[in-house]
Amino acid sequence: MDQKKTYYITTPIYYPSGNMHIGHTYTTVAADAMTRFKRLTGYDAYFLTGTDEHGQKIERKAAEKGVTPQAYVDEIVANTKELWKLMEIEYDDFIRTTQERHEKVVQKIFRQFYEQGDIYKSAYEGLYCTPCESFWTPTQVVEKDGVKVCPDCGRPVEAMQEESYFFRMSKYQDWLIDYIETHPDFIQPAKRANEMLNNFLKPGLQDLCVSRTSFKWGVPVDFDDKHVVYVWIDALSNYITALGYGTDHDELFKKYWPADVHLVGKEIVRFHTIYWPIMLHALGLPLPKQVFAHGWLLFGNDKMSKSKGNVVYPQPIVARYGADALRYYLLREMPFGADGNYTNEAFLTRMNADLANDLGNLVSRTVAMIEKYFDGVLPAWTEAADPEVDAPLKEHCAALPALVEEQMNKLQYSQALAEIWKVIGECNKYIDLTQPWVLGKDEAKKDRLANVLLTLAECVRFVAVLIKPFMPQTPDRIFEQLGVTDDILKTWESLDSFGALPAGIKVCKGEALFPRIDIKKELEALNPDEKEEKKEAKAEKKAEKKEKKKAEIPEGCIAFDDFEKVKLRVARVVECERVEKSDKLLKFRLSLGDEERTVLSGIAKFHNPEDLIGKNLILLANLAPRKIMGIESQGMLLSAVAKNEDGSETLRLLTADPIMPAGAEIG
Ligand code: MSP
Repeated sequence: MDQKKTYYITTPIYYPSGNMHIGHTYTTVAADAMTRFKRLTGYDAYFLTGTDEHGQKIERKAAEKGVTPQAYVDEIVANTKELWKLMEIEYDDFIRTTQERHEKVVQKIFRQFYEQGDIYKSAYEGLYCTPCESFWTPTQVVEKDGVKVCPDCGRPVEAMQEESYFFRMSKYQDWLIDYIETHPDFIQPAKRANEMLNNFLKPGLQDLCVSRTSFKWGVPVDFDDKHVVYVWIDALSNYITALGYGTDHDELFKKYWPADVHLVGKEIVRFHTIYWPIMLHALGLPLPKQVFAHGWLLFGNDKMSKSKGNVVYPQPIVARYGADALRYYLLREMPFGADGNYTNEAFLTRMNADLANDLGNLVSRTVAMIEKYFDGVLPAWTEAADPEVDAPLKEHCAALPALVEEQMNKLQYSQALAEIWKVIGECNKYIDLTQPWVLGKDEAKKDRLANVLLTLAECVRFVAVLIKPFMPQTPDRIFEQLGVTDDILKTWESLDSFGALPAGIKVCKGEALFPRIDIKKELEALNPDEKEEKKEAKAEKKAEKKEKKKAEIPEGCIAFDDFEKVKLRVARVVECERVEKSDKLLKFRLSLGDEERTVLSGIAKFHNPEDLIGKNLILLANLAPRKIMGIESQGMLLSAVAKNEDGSETLRLLTADPIMPAGAEIG
């Protein structure tokens, strides 16, 4: 049996710490376009994307929002999948690192590395910021008044050690240098390979810290449950766990591994071309054929980022102009591998020039002329040729599929589109040159006119077939106008010879594919800046008003707004015990109905732990988590305190009526 050649392409798995923006969309659209192109050209293609859901940042974000990390990521993943649908992105699988199918295999891989001596236990040394629970390297900390402080919060850091597992990267350094040097296609663009060799590999690889004990939201190390697997072993393995590697159902793995290409942003090239190959080699697996590092979509000169407040989201753009226009812009504007800019103005300008003018006009003029001169029915080819004018266009168009394929095989999306648009441009010139409206006036030239319009219609068909991977919605609209219903005429194979469009089909003029837009007007509608300014001004006024109101509040009182920030909940005591080596602390396991919390409270002198089990207490539920004696306390229990005459204190935890369900809100 004739087996199709396989093609496996991946995107990075994105952090669901916030909603995906146009930067994430860029990579995912590129992977989707390549998958569609490979399918068009006869491959059995498989496209994987997903989300990288563990880690301290997600844990913190969830706590800030007062939800569990799982609930937090679930919502963002749902939004992400919606966005991919909106962008016409059709992945084969969406892996989430919190799925059991992934976690189990990550544990297995980690254990294998440990057992074969690639991973060893040691201590991670760094400068620790206790309030942020973050380690920093000496180069990351900032010096303030002679004191080393945390670059995030500005508070002093102290030298600390954390027990960690390390991967012995150094052992594989020479092998990897040799591999990269003997496989020039492995890292693309090639300059990234040189960066890896010169900046990281040749100066000497550091062993990599691969576990953490300071947070819990990760894959537990199954032979040492104080530890969770830290970031890269968890994240990178997704490319094989999604295919069922390490399970009894590894058919996809056998079929598709090694990947043909991992698409990544240039900032994570190091992890994909150093740590990942070493991990795979240590597992005895072949390496992906290529890691392609694309550039960044910038906003002005800055990388888009939430903290800089310059993030562009695709939804409002797609709502106004459709997914195809945005996909076209992303893939056309910058050479894949280089940085580029997103601005609404550049987008709208390109849409007018390339889509409304070049492509849109070609289609509408061609169809309109067939309607006008041939009652909308495609005529048959005639002998009336003008080889000097026809042949260059016909030959160029016939060669187009190969030109596009050549660029796509190098992941040069922009060049591939440029090739297609060269033919579109040539068609528009051909109309000017042949002047069908002049031929149409002379009955004797009808044969010639038939050939001119057929040539144009056939070029339009070629273009429609070829743009489908980039712009999945537009070709069907073109085929409808051209009257092409036979699916064979929409295939790559049908482009083997120029002139397959049959006589007799009925064209049908439709709406403009991409109506010409008034850029100035659209900018006003799209440009959130102005609106934003107005919004900001409004918000400022509101804040001023609030301040004023606050100023009217008597000393010692708080405003209602301030009180509203406090989230109090009924918490049922599930477990309670003394904390070892502490005479003050009790450790509670509390149920809030839909989640559990660990809370420490310094009340051991006043309550017997056994007496508290089953009680309904009152928890300040949105207090930022804090570590006390190595245990994270996730809230504060409220109590009443009174000073006695002898100077001692009486303290009792506040309780809520036992009929109240755990988790009930207090307000
Ligand atoms: N979770 C890791 C990747 C693990 S892969 C095993 C991660 N996630 S991320 O959410 O930060 O996504 C980074 C990726 O998103 C980039 O590598 C790139 O593919 C894409 N982009 C995010 N912002 C981008 C731009 N502004 N421009 C281009 N691509 C961008 O890193």
